Amino acid sequence: MSAILEVKELTKNFGKFQAVAGVTLTVERKELTSLIGPNGAGKTTFYNMLSGKFPPTSGRIIFEGRDITGLPSHKIARIGIGRSFQITNIFSQMTVMQNILSALIAHHKKGTSFFSPYWKDAGLVAEAEKILDSLGLLSFAHVPTTQLSYGDKRLVEIGIVLANYPRLILLDEPTAGMTPEETERMIALIHRLAEETDTTFFLTEHDMKVVFSVSQKIYVLHQGRLLAEGTPEEIRENTQVQEAYLGGSVSA
Ligand SMILES: Nc1ncnc2c1ncn2[C@@H]1O[C@H](COP(=O)(O)OP(=O)(O)OP(=O)(O)O)[C@@H](O)[C@H]1O
Ligand SMILES: [Mg+2]
Repeated sequence: MSAILEVKELTKNFGKFQAVAGVTLTVERKELTSLIGPNGAGKTTFYNMLSGKFPPTSGRIIFEGRDITGLPSHKIARIGIGRSFQITNIFSQMTVMQNILSALIAHHKKGTSFFSPYWKDAGLVAEAEKILDSLGLLSFAHVPTTQLSYGDKRLVEIGIVLANYPRLILLDEPTAGMTPEETERMIALIHRLAEETDTTFFLTEHDMKVVFSVSQKIYVLHQGRLLAEGTPEEIRENTQVQEAYLGGSVSA
């Protein structure tokens, strides 16, 4: 195995408060990896640094051997790290297909004009259909995104991420707010994409059932520091981790 992401001593201070404190970890290519930890552990802050939302206070982020520390988010997206957007970022007045096409146009930097509108670009449409098919959304292609269920909207978000063909995808709580059925579907999708594509997934998650069923490798953050790392079995049995989660909900 080889590392796709190497994080060294990553730190983020908000004033005097250390939200992330000297975290060092590695994500191996194609190894489904999770970052877990109680509320306020620093997970989202950690991802915000990886995706370039804000620069770290100190430390290094190496992606595929290249130092990307402090690069702005649009550059990091171009280099190959995708991150799911918040639901509000979906252009809801557009159809599912139009959302994916817009993302593909941005990715390929295609021009579009009155005489060659993008929806007549057969190559692009075929590409969008392939992405929608992999998400199980092909039959909703021409439905306005507003009319979708919450779970399907989150799938469209993933489709927009996929349209950039990232090699590493960061998912911050992909099943948050989902029904049990939607959660099952999301887990199955992550499994399938991880198997069928060249993409590596690195996700945060509160639902321990999801964490243990999806992950091959788990890192545990607690108060900004790395508390433990290991396989799902090792993390399940780790007493320090159980204490951090007060009441041992990790064994759920
Ligand atoms: N922009 C900010 N300014 C100041 N403090 C912040 C900022 N962003 C996050 N924090 C603080 O940093 C800590 C870590 O927050 P973060 O959102 O990274 O945690 P988290 O692990 O994602 O939590 P959750 O599981 O609730 O999503 C929290 O105490 C939070 O209040
Ligand atoms: Mg968070």
